[in-house]
Amino acid sequence: MDFETLRKNCLDCRKCGLCETRTNVVFGTGNPHAEIMFIGEGPGQREDEQGLPFVGRSGQLLDQYLSAIHLSREKNIFITNIVKCRPPQNRDPLETEQEACWPFLEAQIQLVQPKILVCLGRIAAQKLIRPDYRITREHGRWEQRDGVWMTAFYHPSALLRDVSKRPDTFSDLLSLREKLKELEI
Ligand code: URA
Repeated sequence: MDFETLRKNCLDCRKCGLCETRTNVVFGTGNPHAEIMFIGEGPGQREDEQGLPFVGRSGQLLDQYLSAIHLSREKNIFITNIVKCRPPQNRDPLETEQEACWPFLEAQIQLVQPKILVCLGRIAAQKLIRPDYRITREHGRWEQRDGVWMTAFYHPSALLRDVSKRPDTFSDLLSLREKLKELEI
């Protein structure tokens, strides 16, 4: 399946209850040929209104961090979420919602074929890396699976709530920059 067909299927999706309350499906944005994919949890209010991922306050912070290591969503990365529709009141997406949405993310990863996958926050890390992933203890560590390097950073909304976590994320960003060098990206 090509990217546009996948996007159309995703925009029409009614596989879970989130379709009842969404304004827009948030499929993902960026370069579909990127070597780096960032994966968040699910759309918030602004993302639901605009149909684009990470456009609210946490997205602005994410863009600042990306530009600090000379990355931009247009050029070098593709950004999406575990669930493509906003959970009401920004609650954690339910396991059933994550499962219903999983085939879209799986297909996106297969089409983009990233060399690096960065999970933003616990929910994405537990879905993509390991169900018992501990973000506080394990953020910034790298592991390779099926030829793809994977890591997790604190979610930018956690960095907005707790600025004391920001230096750790800065180190994680530097480790991403090192990984890019190592892989000659
Ligand atoms: N938080 C997320 O996890 N994803 C978004 O797209 C926006 C906020």
